[in-house]
Amino acid sequence: QADERESLFLINEFARDYFERMLHETQLGKSIGLSYFKERGFTQDTIKKFHLGYSPDVWDAFTQEAIQKGYKLELLEKTGLSIVKENKQFDRFKGRVMFPIHSMSGRTLGFGGRILRTDKKAAKYLNSPESPVYHKSQVLYGLHYAKQSMAKEDRCYLVEGYTDVIQMHQAGIENVVSSSGTALTEQQIRLILRLTKNITVLFDGDEAGMRAALRGIDLILAQGLNVKVCTFPEGEDPDSFARKHPTEDIKAFLNNKAQDFISFKASLLMKESANDPIQKAATIRDMVESIAKIPDRIQQEIYLQECSRIMDISENVLYSSLAQLTAGQS
Ligand code: CTP
Ligand code: MN
Ligand code: MN
Ligand code: MN
Ligand code: MN
Repeated sequence: QADERESLFLINEFARDYFERMLHETQLGKSIGLSYFKERGFTQDTIKKFHLGYSPDVWDAFTQEAIQKGYKLELLEKTGLSIVKENKQFDRFKGRVMFPIHSMSGRTLGFGGRILRTDKKAAKYLNSPESPVYHKSQVLYGLHYAKQSMAKEDRCYLVEGYTDVIQMHQAGIENVVSSSGTALTEQQIRLILRLTKNITVLFDGDEAGMRAALRGIDLILAQGLNVKVCTFPEGEDPDSFARKHPTEDIKAFLNNKAQDFISFKASLLMKESANDPIQKAATIRDMVESIAKIPDRIQQEIYLQECSRIMDISENVLYSSLAQLTAGQS
């Protein structure tokens, strides 16, 4: 079992090298893949640092080369890099730029592959499937590159995507990891908790990002971490934002715009219908439900006070509502 896992790591590392070679050393890789990354504003150093690559738009080039090098088809299939159907074998990733996904210690667990033009019908990102070495829900993209800075800064910035991590890094902000578009999980939060208790959620400035942030908050609070939220202007994500601004401005934005979850939820309400008493009641209930998730009683108290102040409602009402929610819980 341990042997098999090691073999799968070696295959993924072979694939990482292969995709890098295709990117840097082939004509197509250079004219298609490398120019794509350059257009996105990634420097050569960044491309090398994150081991970005290119998978040519060929039926089975990778699988053939891997078999020739002695890797077993059965194991290639287990990594998801090769697909076997009706006795034919082909590559999972074709005509995509490649983002290797590393473990905290830097082993290659799997890949995300981005299509070059989004006008095609295919999904924008194609990812490695679950495998004995890749469990999506237990991995944070970028953690290997972020861990030192996370400990040093005592904060983790949580973003949605691969390119958000990379662009922020390039701007000199290295304590950034991504949940890769999936709903945040408890295991991912526990990985962060090894290094810091402070998370700032930086999700995309759109409806989906907002909803993902709201979902993430309660999960983070329940694990006893401190959470802040920083919302981006409509249509921006950390990648596009970081490209447009110098590092000092990005840092100032992150410092000044970060809100605790009570203010974040309050500002969502203001945006919608601040004068609607039913909406307001729903928001307050929502805040108390989040507060109920916090394991620490003193923190609960502090947030209740803040909620009372911001929403202009008596602390007593909030206390009894919290007591109802937590009844029989302790
Ligand atoms: N994602 C995915 N499959 C998709 C779309 C998204 O796995 N079809 C994941 C990717 O990890 C992606 C993240 O969700 O990085 C966030 O999605 P999105 O904001 O749509 O993409 P960006 O990261 O902004 O990618 P880009 O800037 O390249 O468009
Ligand atoms: Mn496992
Ligand atoms: Mn998005
Ligand atoms: Mn995005
Ligand atoms: Mn983006």
